[in-house]
Amino acid sequence: MRENPNYNEIYYQHTTSHSQVIDIVTEQVIPLSALDAPIHWERLFGNTYPVEIEIGSGKGRFLLEASKRHPEVNYIGVERAQKYVEITQDRFKKHIRHFGVDRTSGTFSNVRLVRTDANYFLTRYVPETSVQAYHIYFPDPWPRKRQRKRRLFRNRDFLFALTRTLKSEGGRLYIVTDHEEYFQEIQERLAGLPVLHSIDAALKPDSDITTHYEAKYVLEGRPIYRAVYEKALS
Ligand SMILES: C[S@@+](CC[C@H](N)C(=O)[O-])C[C@H]1O[C@@H](n2cnc3c(N)ncnc32)[C@H](O)[C@@H]1O
Repeated sequence: MRENPNYNEIYYQHTTSHSQVIDIVTEQVIPLSALDAPIHWERLFGNTYPVEIEIGSGKGRFLLEASKRHPEVNYIGVERAQKYVEITQDRFKKHIRHFGVDRTSGTFSNVRLVRTDANYFLTRYVPETSVQAYHIYFPDPWPRKRQRKRRLFRNRDFLFALTRTLKSEGGRLYIVTDHEEYFQEIQERLAGLPVLHSIDAALKPDSDITTHYEAKYVLEGRPIYRAVYEKALS
């Protein structure tokens, strides 16, 4: 069974040819291809703050709350579904309107939404050892047996890019899911990466900030599984 990003070549090409970067405050939309590859974070954000990336940012709930709470961290939300990108843009717009956020105040100038495939983005656009943290919340579990090859954590290129782009000492990977079997698989696959070390999941900051899926599943009483990994070279 193939375990590379080309499992669905047509879909992949379609997604990547429409890749865009959206500035939440100015609402400027540019093609991802207009940026340097790899991206120069300082040029993109106009500052030297650390960069954190949420993969599969969905409806943007985490992205909004985390970026508001930490104005000195730059956040990138990577989402491949146009529908969710629009919902996220709408969420920010409503928030800005409702709370009378002055668009010149700097609030949310630390956020970029990238409409693309995460694997494509990480392998081509994210510079080596430049990411302070990755947030991966409720990654699609593809529960049917014949679809499991689509799981993000089965993709070796993705895993390699993830570890390569995390900061060398202390770069973190936060994972939350409700899917026990996929959680086991993720743990097994990450255990095979010597630079990543599992640390106490209670060390996850901002655990009061829930994603859309987390809020929904907690209400349903489903068990939630959490893991935190840290990059260390030893
Ligand atoms: C189950 S939803 C979780 C959304 C959000 N993280 C949450 O917890 O509410 C998974 C999300 O990941 C996105 N996604 C899945 N694979 C992706 C990929 N390869 N690149 C970018 N986004 C992806 C899906 O479009 C979807 O929005």
